[in-house]
Amino acid sequence: MAHLSASVYTSHVPAIGAALDLGKSAEPYWQPVFQGYQYSKQWIEEDQPDVIFLVYNDHATAFSLELIPTFAIGCAAEFKPADEGWGPRPVPVVKGHPELAAHIAQSVIQDDFDLTIVNKMDVDHGLTVPLSLMFGQRDPVHGAWPCPVIPFAVNVVQYPVPSGRRCFMLGQAIRRAIESYDEPLKVQIWGTGGMSHQLQGPRAGLINRVWDNAWLDQLIADPAACAATPHIDYVREAGSEGIELVMWLIARGAMADVAGGPAPTVKHRFYHVPASNTAVGHLILQNNR
Ligand code: DHB
Ligand code: FE
Repeated sequence: MAHLSASVYTSHVPAIGAALDLGKSAEPYWQPVFQGYQYSKQWIEEDQPDVIFLVYNDHATAFSLELIPTFAIGCAAEFKPADEGWGPRPVPVVKGHPELAAHIAQSVIQDDFDLTIVNKMDVDHGLTVPLSLMFGQRDPVHGAWPCPVIPFAVNVVQYPVPSGRRCFMLGQAIRRAIESYDEPLKVQIWGTGGMSHQLQGPRAGLINRVWDNAWLDQLIADPAACAATPHIDYVREAGSEGIELVMWLIARGAMADVAGGPAPTVKHRFYHVPASNTAVGHLILQNNR
């Protein structure tokens, strides 16, 4: 059977991708950001997953106001890096895992969560920046990401967006789906986006270190209580784009302790302000079952 070995959480700020792509990662502004992922790069090299289930949001790139799926699972064989206005990022094409994705879709939909099946989709910074942070730079033509990735897009852009509670429950259904897949795959689940940031309006530039860190504490120690955080609290405390954090609850919901198993081990925790106009948060939890 497949099993979930760990969950990884990280912000996905597009400027981080640009800093890497433009060779600026050693500059004093960016160095502390990438330093925070040094441990993670080594950790993942030593404990390579066979597949990554990557929860992110599309930023009006593949989807527009014409079509707004709340939860969309990428079932294609590959996903191209999207052109977000400056040409596609120079990173490898993302290879999918259609068999596992189809199994998860079957299981999670029968478990009463409505997913949109996506058979063709370009992936934006929400997905490619976390891959770059964890795996470093890869040659876009001759290189490849180390393993297949199942993109899982959540609508946190256009209201109404799903609650943290629903995301948390969905994570539990995803764990059941993965653990019922009849192949001995080591799967990681990643939750991306956040932390506090607001990109527009009078409060643009908002950062809330105290709230972010209290939320991280609770995500680790009492995820069910964290999942009960009302939507308006994210917006008020973490800014309009802070709502991206509900995606972390999908990854957290997939860990064993949520279903009565042992608590995960905190392998790494990192927080840094600023990257562009965003608070960067990062966490690695090793699943202990
Ligand atoms: C920005 C965009 C994002 O999607 C995000 O999660 C953080 C920052 C930005 O445009 O700066
Ligand atoms: Fe984002």
